[in-house]
Amino acid sequence: MAILVCGGAGYIGSHINKQLNLEGYDTIVFDNLVYGHREAVKWGRFVQGDLSNISDIEDAFEKYDIDAVFHFAAFAYVGESVDKPEKYYYNNVVNTLNLLRVMREHGCSKIIFSSTCATYGEPERVPITEDMPQNPINPYGMTKLMVERIFKDYAKAYGLKFAVLRYFNAAGADPDGEIGESHDPETHIIPLVLDAASGKRPDIKVFGTDYDTPDGSCIRDYIHVTDLADAHLKALHYLEKGGEPDFFNLGNAIGTSVLEVVDAVKRVTGKEFKVVLAPRRPGDPAKLVGSSEKAQRILGWKPEFGDIHTIVSHAWKWHENAEY
Ligand SMILES: NC(=O)c1ccc[n+]([C@@H]2O[C@H](COP(=O)([O-])OP(=O)(O)OC[C@H]3O[C@@H](n4cnc5c(N)ncnc54)[C@H](O)[C@@H]3O)[C@@H](O)[C@H]2O)c1
Repeated sequence: MAILVCGGAGYIGSHINKQLNLEGYDTIVFDNLVYGHREAVKWGRFVQGDLSNISDIEDAFEKYDIDAVFHFAAFAYVGESVDKPEKYYYNNVVNTLNLLRVMREHGCSKIIFSSTCATYGEPERVPITEDMPQNPINPYGMTKLMVERIFKDYAKAYGLKFAVLRYFNAAGADPDGEIGESHDPETHIIPLVLDAASGKRPDIKVFGTDYDTPDGSCIRDYIHVTDLADAHLKALHYLEKGGEPDFFNLGNAIGTSVLEVVDAVKRVTGKEFKVVLAPRRPGDPAKLVGSSEKAQRILGWKPEFGDIHTIVSHAWKWHENAEY
């Protein structure tokens, strides 16, 4: 029995692939390498394939005895999704339908899916719980919400067994330094601030310093990628034991402001760099913090790397000697 890790050459998928192998699972990483890195697939087998191509998915299912799927493959640039929604609806929704079809044809019913806090849009309060209204404010968030709804219908009609994991801000890197975050283009705050610290960028811009938060900058919930990996393994065990299809937030429930991230990077790296205070960007909520009480209660998951200092330290360890 093997696990198919779609998008496993990417940032989060590669960390889950490592964890699965450490726990003794046999993995097949399926990735078209549009954004992923071949070098990040250090464990299991690799199949270069595209979810838009049904025969690529069928080949993988015919060659390997796949018992469960982890589905990370998607486009995830919020701004681009506003300018090019078609690209996002095709890759994130239509291509997921392709995957679900082949899974069904091969009697594979377990899937663990990367959703996002972006499905909540502007929350009415924090911490965000799973039962709060989901009103995405961009096509990216909408694609993920659509997949969530599709899963619900497939569970009813076809017996799909899913765990939908709504991540807050994935951050950090493998504590052993073997893999890490490398997006091109990069839009995530921690690697961008680290680039400023290492002189790869001239400065870091802080968008908005007049929010209703203690230091005026936006507050986000950073969750260590290794904690995410642990939650994925627990979600798999949950489905293996017959757990009902369900939705879980994965966050630390700790809000960290952009200025606190900048400060943590200065402390960890010991480097000074230019910080530019810029106006707010449209569509950035002041505060996004998730409650992970449900994941703790049902999956038995507890984040280990809560503090921003550890998250930034691991990211920096990778960043200084990044292989890709
Ligand atoms: N990074 C975050 O903070 C965050 C937060 C919430 C949700 N997510 C979701 O988690 C998932 C992983 O995010 P990431 O940061 O690791 O992104 P990533 O871009 O590093 O990884 C995605 C991988 O999927 C592959 N891929 C994309 N389309 C494909 C296709 N059609 N066929 C085969 N492979 C394909 C890419 O090549 C890439 O390796 C995404 O679904 C993203 O929406 C990420």
